[in-house]
Amino acid sequence: MKDLKLPSQVRIFDTTLRDGEQTPGVALTPDEKIRIAQQLDVLGVDIIEAGFPITSSGEANAVKKIANLGLHAEICALARSVEKDIELAALCEVDTIHTFIATSRIHMEKKLRMSEDEVVDKAVRGVELAKSYGVKVEFSAEDATRSDIKFLKRVYKAVVEAGADRIDIPDTVGFATPHAMRILVKEVREVVNVPIAVHCHDDMGLAVANSIGGVEGGATEIHATINGIGERAGNASLEEVVIALKYLYGIRTNINFRELYKTSRLVASLTGITVPPNKAIVGDNAFAHESGIHTHGVVSSPQTYEPISPEEVGARRVFVAGKHAGTHGIEKQLSDLGYVLTKEQLKEVIKRVKNLGDKGKKVTDVDLARIAESIIGAGTEQKVKLKELVVVSGLNVTPTASLHLEIEGKEYKIADYGVGPIDASIRAIKQVMGGRLHFKLEDFRLEAITGGTDALAEVLVRLSDDQGNVVSSRGVSEDIVLAGVYAVVNAANRLLQKRERE
Ligand code: KIV
Ligand code: ZN
Repeated sequence: MKDLKLPSQVRIFDTTLRDGEQTPGVALTPDEKIRIAQQLDVLGVDIIEAGFPITSSGEANAVKKIANLGLHAEICALARSVEKDIELAALCEVDTIHTFIATSRIHMEKKLRMSEDEVVDKAVRGVELAKSYGVKVEFSAEDATRSDIKFLKRVYKAVVEAGADRIDIPDTVGFATPHAMRILVKEVREVVNVPIAVHCHDDMGLAVANSIGGVEGGATEIHATINGIGERAGNASLEEVVIALKYLYGIRTNINFRELYKTSRLVASLTGITVPPNKAIVGDNAFAHESGIHTHGVVSSPQTYEPISPEEVGARRVFVAGKHAGTHGIEKQLSDLGYVLTKEQLKEVIKRVKNLGDKGKKVTDVDLARIAESIIGAGTEQKVKLKELVVVSGLNVTPTASLHLEIEGKEYKIADYGVGPIDASIRAIKQVMGGRLHFKLEDFRLEAITGGTDALAEVLVRLSDDQGNVVSSRGVSEDIVLAGVYAVVNAANRLLQKRERE
């Protein structure tokens, strides 16, 4: 790395609200876009690409609203090198217009049906028009990595002469390698004297590596999206890029790392694109340890198996009890849950956990607590008990749940409605819990334990409360609704017990 002239800081151009929204199946409402933009600003991104105004009037309105939120970040709108796109982007009152036109042979011949001269002319006229609105202009040569390098340099040189403030090199179909990206940026740098960005797609799983390759070549801005969402296989994942820059290269960004996990979850919940458990930095398993060797290491010194600490990115360390579990991990997990066991008792807990693991069961902290309680012989009293549940659902009826709960010896009966019977039941539980416990359902997963219509359903839930406690729990029943309600009631008990202990 010695021979590389690395920048001390890289700017982050976030395109979650534009390329990220181009993820198949994703469509955000203007309010959702605003919520994400506000969180991106808290996260500290330098530039927010708020959208592509020409796509719809709703999109243009959302971009304009975001531009007028008074955020710290520079707000940008995308426009083709086409008059009507640029005029509309300017009407959205953004700080920056990001214009683009394709420069690869295949795009010019098959999509644009334009010659090289026509493309250069259009790119230049687009930049000049955008500049005439008094905004900053960033120019992208779409499919740059599959373009003829000589022609690419000609285009970039021409747009910079026309006033482009920054240029971007997109690897539109994820066809580059880190080395190629480094060389390409270096070559382009020889003909332009404005900051260079890179915009990498993940078709080959190399978007993050290629973005960093671009930085090695002299790029000082990276286009990225939260959770790596975007067209097809997505874009470079923002959280991975910024962590790799800091930990592997010592390069700063303006990102507030502690907001990464929260931002990731917000984007996942609003876009409906869930984060895979094994996703770096923000996946559920990124800081989860199951095997005995690993948990022992982490309990002794977290750096043994955690290259970065979960707190740094606003996440939490989790010890999972399963068939690979070891004494130290389970002991730590139990002590976090408030249980102190003798050596013999601990041995027995581990035996049972491994037994469950061999049967393919996931052992949540509720199971672990139940096992520990049964072994210690001091069963914790269930404060909330489900006594009765009747649900109505079907075609052309409003799904309703009538619930009978016992809370600390007192009986409560209530009914509520929802989008489905499980939603109605959870709403009813929330109502009954009232001031005692405000909880939020973080995760709800339904799994069938066996096949067939008589399958046992297993629901795994994760609940959080307003004091930052998070618990997971499981409900099992041959009735899907009941399994969900059992899981939520168990988790509510768990939360109450945790709060009492604290
Ligand atoms: O992938 C791409 O080429 C783009 C451009 C619009 C920058 O998203
Ligand atoms: Zn893109």
